[in-house]
Amino acid sequence: MKKAVIFDLDGVLVHTDRYHYNAWRILTDKLGIDFPQERYDGIRGLSRMDSLERILAFSPRQFTREEKEALAAEKNEAYLQRVEQMGPEEVDGDVRAALRGLREKGLLLAVGSSSKNAKRILARTELTACFDAIADGSMVTRAKPDPEVFLKAAELLRVAPAQALVVEDAAAGLRAAKAGGLQAVAFGGDAAGNPLADYEVTRLTALLELV
Ligand code: BG6
Ligand code: MG
Repeated sequence: MKKAVIFDLDGVLVHTDRYHYNAWRILTDKLGIDFPQERYDGIRGLSRMDSLERILAFSPRQFTREEKEALAAEKNEAYLQRVEQMGPEEVDGDVRAALRGLREKGLLLAVGSSSKNAKRILARTELTACFDAIADGSMVTRAKPDPEVFLKAAELLRVAPAQALVVEDAAAGLRAAKAGGLQAVAFGGDAAGNPLADYEVTRLTALLELV
């Protein structure tokens, strides 16, 4: 029996995965690192610093801790410039219909995101009120693929992990969900076609048939 749905944010509820990629590209172009979309797919869902470490591994150069901190801050600044232009129109009609439909069916809804900008994005897109709980990157010490953020969301909703369905566009997110004993739904990105997923959907309103 499913009592709750926990949504990843970037690449699931909103198309901010594109903005993350574009912001990383500013950095990689400057550093002369080849960073095509396929390489971004390999780091989907990872925390800001874990993403940066993976990206810098494509460079022959070594970077100090201070340089890494500065690069992460620079990327975040470029990303936030785009986030500040976001509005409610950036949420697909299908996403809003899915959230409404799940609510009508009595499901509890949460966000489980690695991002430290999650609350800002939810506010800008006027999605905050759609959720009973929000667990984000500022509330955990271990990022996906560790299950901490999803377990936190389940705890905030007061549901057992096994009663919650996680929706993810990242393989790292699917791994996190399964490691925490939650059920996992793949939705695009590098989650698509991943055998770890219990279900796969190509639009979020299809979730209404799974709960
Ligand atoms: C995840 C994204 O949701 O958040 C990752 O999929 C991103 O690409 C991570 O690195 C951390 O986000 P932020 O906004 O804290 O830099
Ligand atoms: Mg994502």
